[in-house]
Amino acid sequence: MKAPYHVSWVEKKHLAQLVILERQCFVQTWTIEQYQKMLSRNNFKVLGIFQDTMLAGYISISLTGDEAEIINLAVHPEHRKMGLAKTLLSRAISICCQAMATKIFLEVRPSNIPALKVYKSSGFYEVARRKKYYQDNLEDALILSLELTAPERF
Ligand SMILES: CC(C)(COP(=O)(O)OP(=O)(O)OC[C@H]1O[C@@H](n2cnc3c(N)ncnc32)[C@H](O)[C@@H]1OP(=O)(O)O)[C@@H](O)C(=O)NCCC(=O)NCCS
Repeated sequence: MKAPYHVSWVEKKHLAQLVILERQCFVQTWTIEQYQKMLSRNNFKVLGIFQDTMLAGYISISLTGDEAEIINLAVHPEHRKMGLAKTLLSRAISICCQAMATKIFLEVRPSNIPALKVYKSSGFYEVARRKKYYQDNLEDALILSLELTAPERF
């Protein structure tokens, strides 16, 4: 029987797994060194969803003042459509609330239907569009936002 999934912080010891997972999920990726540098900052956090010690997905967040940004969200192809992205997003929203953020922003490709479904089902809505934003195919970027109202924060 497979171990249950659990959510916990991604630490430096997990970075080798993280960059491999990221390369399976994105065109533009960060190196271990870039992650090490970012993780040494207080305002950058990565939550992972693990099965035993295996990283099955992650979400990275940046917190600046009362605004938060979801930098990346990804789930390993073999672990998709099991609710892991929704679990990670919900935990990330709670962390943003605890940090007293009032708004969360993120960028997503209009062609990324699975990601749009995850974000919209968690209450994110479209606030802007950046024309020809992505360098690899000049696709627009949609900017989505979620307002964290008082009842969600307290
Ligand atoms: C987007 C991604 C993170 C979704 O991960 P996931 O764990 O499969 O998502 P979940 O299982 O939590 O699904 C949440 C919802 O999205 C829907 N969904 C997920 N993948 C889907 C797909 N390929 N097609 C249609 N709907 C999909 C689920 O059915 C579910 O809907 P529900 O709430 O109505 O049941 C994953 O596909 C991924 O890693 N993609 C590559 C990286 C990426 O594009 N990240 C987003 C960057 S902005």
